[in-house]
Amino acid sequence: MQIHFFPTLSTTMDKARELARNNAPHFSVVVAEEQIKGRGRLNRIWLSDKEGLWFTVILRPIFPPTLAFQINFAASLSVAKILKYQYGLDVSVKWPNDILIRDKESENNKEIFQNKKVAGLLSEMETYGDKISFVNIGIGINVNNNPEIEQLNATSMKQILNKNLQYINQDICKIDLLTSFLDEFEKHILAIESGSINCINLIEEWKQMTSTIGKRVRIETFNGFYEGIAIDVEQSGALLIRDDSGNEKSIIYGDCFYQ
Ligand code: BTN
Repeated sequence: MQIHFFPTLSTTMDKARELARNNAPHFSVVVAEEQIKGRGRLNRIWLSDKEGLWFTVILRPIFPPTLAFQINFAASLSVAKILKYQYGLDVSVKWPNDILIRDKESENNKEIFQNKKVAGLLSEMETYGDKISFVNIGIGINVNNNPEIEQLNATSMKQILNKNLQYINQDICKIDLLTSFLDEFEKHILAIESGSINCINLIEEWKQMTSTIGKRVRIETFNGFYEGIAIDVEQSGALLIRDDSGNEKSIIYGDCFYQ
């Protein structure tokens, strides 16, 4: 595994694409301490100051492009497992690949729970013929930063851990977090490549950690939006929703908002 570290980058996605096009090997990692033009899904800006963990993993999987979606699910599942089992955070995955933390707030002496975004994932793929040339998985984890100032529905690991008084104002070590993630993610990728897990097992495991199924959702896509109840995530990774007229629609890509 090669790790390329940069104090500042425009975005790790562009650097990773450049390295991938110049033959960077499978499982190369590009990490930036800060990104000036971090980007999110649907061309959104992704705020990336020095306190968070921003990186892109370059993969050259041996399966066909139609199965590349598995990598996204394996990546979000790996982040969720590390946050849950290593840091004790109450996390869930939101379709397609966000990681949320359940945050407890008090309002008028009542406790209310809100799901806030702690990490997001963006992928880019290039193919040649019917083969994958590379799939780059960009992951942003709000670790010690305060995203809430600009994004009401976001939080960081440190904010939540401090609230639970587990860490009193102590920074979380980003190297430990990155190492744990890469170990977990590598296990998943090896299992997919060796066939010891397939789409069905992977999606089933992902569904064990999702908070999306059963929720009323609004899905924004490049071509408009859909609303309904999320009823399943299919083997293909598509989200199945049922609208108010009872019609079902399978959506392959978009950004999901709980209503
Ligand atoms: C999203 O939730 O919209 C996806 C966010 C992805 C952010 C990461 S940070 C590392 C990599 N570089 C970027 O510019 N974006 C991804």
